[in-house]
Amino acid sequence: MAETIFYKRVSYIDWLLQRVPQAQYDLGRSIIHSKPLSELGIDLKDIALDAKELRAYQPLSHKYGVEPENIILSQGGATQALYIAYNSIVRPGDEVILEAPNYEPLYRLAVKLGGVVKILERSPEKDYQIDIEEFQRKISRNTRLVVFTNLHNPTGTFTNKDVLQAIADITRDNKCYVLCSEVYLDNILEGDPVPVCKLGNHMISVSSLSKVYGFSELRLGWSVCKDELIRKRMSILINQYLGSVSPLIDQIGTFLLRKESELLERSREIISANIEIINNWMKTQKNLKWVKPAGGTVCFIKLPPRINSMNFAQYLFEKYKTLVAPGDFFWKSGFIRITFGQNETTLKNGLNFISRAIKEFLQAM
Ligand SMILES: Cc1ncc(COP(=O)(O)O)c(C=O)c1O
Repeated sequence: MAETIFYKRVSYIDWLLQRVPQAQYDLGRSIIHSKPLSELGIDLKDIALDAKELRAYQPLSHKYGVEPENIILSQGGATQALYIAYNSIVRPGDEVILEAPNYEPLYRLAVKLGGVVKILERSPEKDYQIDIEEFQRKISRNTRLVVFTNLHNPTGTFTNKDVLQAIADITRDNKCYVLCSEVYLDNILEGDPVPVCKLGNHMISVSSLSKVYGFSELRLGWSVCKDELIRKRMSILINQYLGSVSPLIDQIGTFLLRKESELLERSREIISANIEIINNWMKTQKNLKWVKPAGGTVCFIKLPPRINSMNFAQYLFEKYKTLVAPGDFFWKSGFIRITFGQNETTLKNGLNFISRAIKEFLQAM
């Protein structure tokens, strides 16, 4: 029998959010700074609060090439979309395959629902790519759900169509579902970003306007699911238990989704300049290692071997008011996750303080 537990706190979210108000250089939260709605031409006077139908289905069904009924909108960002998907798929005793390093809520949800977690390692030696042979060895007749992120949180690694197709084929034969959080996918600098929902009815894409679109505060998220049974379950959960999306959020979101290319162009401009800043900084840091991210807002940096990443992140925060996420929260101590969605000055100052803190840390050893 699976243990009955209530919701455990997500330690990564606790640690980060407690520190955000005092952080002068926030390289911790994985967002791009937003643009004022008025600059985009949104006038709240145009919003019809009594609208009978939600509108965001239209641009999203166009974006993913699916029917509007295959889109499930959520008013709590990708966080809620993931919650809905997990709750519609995982039963006690079901095997859930998760990647490592991992985004903690994906683990907490699996455990909460009584899932039996199996880990698929994404190793730095293989540039954090998903190893399909390893995946094939991991999957079993008991596997109900496979969950991963594209781009990968925390490393920013891109999974290309060939690998996604291999995952789609293996999981189809195995009769299980795949859930992919694609909140960092749409602003990649090179390559073709393929949402998993395009590769099979058992493949579910989750995303939101929070990360690469720069509208974290709006909290509009969605899932794209073509599987009839799971789609119906998700729709009951959101519409009858959790509460459907407000017309206010829907109409602002629809407006933003219609400006997708403009928002992504801005996003790519910010992140390509910022990735270059980190790249140049990394060339001066002989004792740090990384795999350059494909886009998104996050990258993962290996500290010198003797440095404890939890202590280091706390020291950096206390002394230099610079916030990064310790790798420990992603099951990888000795690393820090740095985000690069903020303005250049914040990023450059933050990096400068990271170099200083590393020197001080090593000298004190
Ligand atoms: C991989 C991944 N999925 C989902 C989320 C949640 O996104 P949202 O802010 O839209 O709830 C995050 C947030 O950090 C994330 O990193």
